[in-house]
Amino acid sequence: NVDLGNTIETTPGLTDETLDRLDDRVAAAHDRIVAGMEADEFGYAALTLPETTDPEAIRAVMDQFDRPAAVLTVGIGGSALGAAAISNALESDVDAHFLDNVDPDAVDALLADLPLAETVVNVVSKSGTTAETLANFLVVREAMAEAGVDWTERTIVTTGEEGNLRSLADEHGLPALDVPDGVPGRFSALSTVGLVVPALQGHDIEAVLAGGRDGMDALAGSLYESPAYAYGAATYALAERGALTNAVMPYAESLETFAEWFAQLWAESLGKDGLGQTPARALGATDQHSQLQLYRAGPPDKIVSLIRPTERADTTIPETDLDGLAYLGGSSLADLLDAEFAATEASLAAADVPNIRVEIERVDERSLGELLYGMEAACVLYGELASISTFTQPAVEWGKKAARGLLGGGDFPEADAVADKRELR
Ligand code: PA5
Repeated sequence: NVDLGNTIETTPGLTDETLDRLDDRVAAAHDRIVAGMEADEFGYAALTLPETTDPEAIRAVMDQFDRPAAVLTVGIGGSALGAAAISNALESDVDAHFLDNVDPDAVDALLADLPLAETVVNVVSKSGTTAETLANFLVVREAMAEAGVDWTERTIVTTGEEGNLRSLADEHGLPALDVPDGVPGRFSALSTVGLVVPALQGHDIEAVLAGGRDGMDALAGSLYESPAYAYGAATYALAERGALTNAVMPYAESLETFAEWFAQLWAESLGKDGLGQTPARALGATDQHSQLQLYRAGPPDKIVSLIRPTERADTTIPETDLDGLAYLGGSSLADLLDAEFAATEASLAAADVPNIRVEIERVDERSLGELLYGMEAACVLYGELASISTFTQPAVEWGKKAARGLLGGGDFPEADAVADKRELR
């Protein structure tokens, strides 16, 4: 559910008339999105993943391994965050680790602790050429060899049709899954890219996809009928009115990585041509004691997205006769968290700060699939309304080429530009 009540008549705010007028544009954008999905166009194809992803193909690869103690994903950006958002939200006795950065201290510390002989290494790169991913994989491979582990027996590759990683998989006969065509990394959570880790951890990936299908079925040509479009249209309209930061604040620790995933989706997809909305990450109730001060009383250029499950496991707060604390006893931590949520919502509304409530039923596979799908659809709609090229990432590509060029991995003008900039200094 998406509740826009606290975006109406706020500063910067919407009116009912604004939303009514915007709804005609939502209808036209929806037609464009559906046409893109039907034609399997680049980017739009991501919104058909709940139907086109084959969980059997993932299981076939997975079945080649005994249940591991740990899964180590080597990938970065969209090749890691979707899997991490799902995996970190759900409990499993198979540990999931994500090696995305190339910070040597972090890499060494992680490898020193991992039971490599009982770990499945999942290397993911759509392009198959990303320097961070390939460098990390070479380090992991060597660590496995040094530990006497045959890396070819414990590595899965998920990649595009070409690139260094595909060649490596072919050369060593590694189990390999395809990154679907037409799906940018940050939109690939509901594909092989996002589902291998949860599958290896024993999660129900069919349910994740079913949740995605729920989200797909809920798309309609009106923001009043489609929660995803309500979110996308309202965030767009508020950005037009000066809400240039979107603070995403889940009230569930299990959704903390979801906020990270969202930040990538929103920033990399919508940050173009001088437009976009800066995602900020917060956690309820913890950040009520820090960032909330700024969100309520700082520059009026923000929207806060408050996300919570309506059902969760609970812990009773023991009765106490401590002075002044009797009100807590017999209540529960979930009651307290809900009270904190309501307090934040009301506090922001009282200060005229627009905030949107997003509720999922509970943190499980199906709801996660629906949430991820819904936010992707919201992002695509925002991009349509703003005439942004949602599915490209030229600034990210610039950096990738510059770094490769600087290390001697090819002749890229971007690397020369780095050198020129240095000389200017
Ligand atoms: O969304 C994107 O396109 C990026 O964040 C990519 O996922 C990221 O740069 C990793 O690229 P690759 O999968 O080619 O290694």
